[in-house]
Amino acid sequence: MIRSYLAMRNVRRDDDAVVSSSRGGTPINSLPPEDSPPADLAELLAVPRFPRCAGYDPEWVIANQMGPNVLWLTEFLSQAMDLRPGMRVLDMGCGKALSSIFLAREFGVQVWATDLWIPAAENLERVQEAGLEDLGFPVHAEAHALPFAERFFDAAFSVDAYHYFGTDDLYLGYFARFVRPDAQIGIVVPGVRQEIGDVIPPGLRPFWNWDFGSFHSTAWWRAHWEKTGLVAIATADILPNGWEIWLQWEEMWEKSGRPRPHSNVELLRADTGHVLGFTRVVARRRAEPLYPSPLYSS
Ligand SMILES: C[S@@+](CC[C@H](N)C(=O)[O-])C[C@H]1O[C@@H](n2cnc3c(N)ncnc32)[C@H](O)[C@@H]1O
Repeated sequence: MIRSYLAMRNVRRDDDAVVSSSRGGTPINSLPPEDSPPADLAELLAVPRFPRCAGYDPEWVIANQMGPNVLWLTEFLSQAMDLRPGMRVLDMGCGKALSSIFLAREFGVQVWATDLWIPAAENLERVQEAGLEDLGFPVHAEAHALPFAERFFDAAFSVDAYHYFGTDDLYLGYFARFVRPDAQIGIVVPGVRQEIGDVIPPGLRPFWNWDFGSFHSTAWWRAHWEKTGLVAIATADILPNGWEIWLQWEEMWEKSGRPRPHSNVELLRADTGHVLGFTRVVARRRAEPLYPSPLYSS
């Protein structure tokens, strides 16, 4: 199921020839002209910045997609976290558990693959097909009613999901309870370069969805977490050329002809790299909150 492309191909593992400028220049992996024969999916998906992803079957990735390329975003987040074999990791909003499978396979961590929209039994099948049932534990749960012991996890991880439930000022205080003190909490979310407030950029309005209001800037996320005094921020940045990578993925998905619940191709083309991208935030839970609350345990 997950074929080792690294073994079959001389895939570059260096990280320095990543991408061109998001405004002009050659795209990361240029798509072929309309009338050319379909390019090899593996070639289209090979991004030097994400060398670990090259070891996964592109057909499997596309068949289980729920949005932007989850493996690229998972590898991006993992690059800013210290993940070691045997650690207990909460993968919150894991969707079809591709991120959980990646983390278990690449780092030997134990992953509680937790999601609301996707049944745990379906994710168990994927985990078993990947041969990782000793490391992957699918859980069906809502983000505000997590069935875990406080301080159980060594790390919490979330890709393309935290913005659905984590923009509430009080949510981090709930979520952070489930990791031990000094444990890492990391997220990657779709975001905006600068806060746009209530003014949707005119060029994006025809393609805008109201729920994109949960897309925020890196500065916003940093302040959102830092002001709680519950965590210490270790990393708050954007994925370089995130818009370009996102568009590359959407265009490739479109050309693949595989079923897609929705498309953001027009939105991303209209953006031309000015507004949209991905924000990454990694923090460590403080042993003691800076500002204790008599109402909320932490
Ligand atoms: C766009 S999908 C991304 C899934 C996966 N992380 C990926 O990148 O393929 C967002 C995920 O967030 C999860 N989610 C959204 N709101 C949630 C909530 N309140 N509690 C738990 N999960 C939630 C959904 O179940 C969904 O799988």
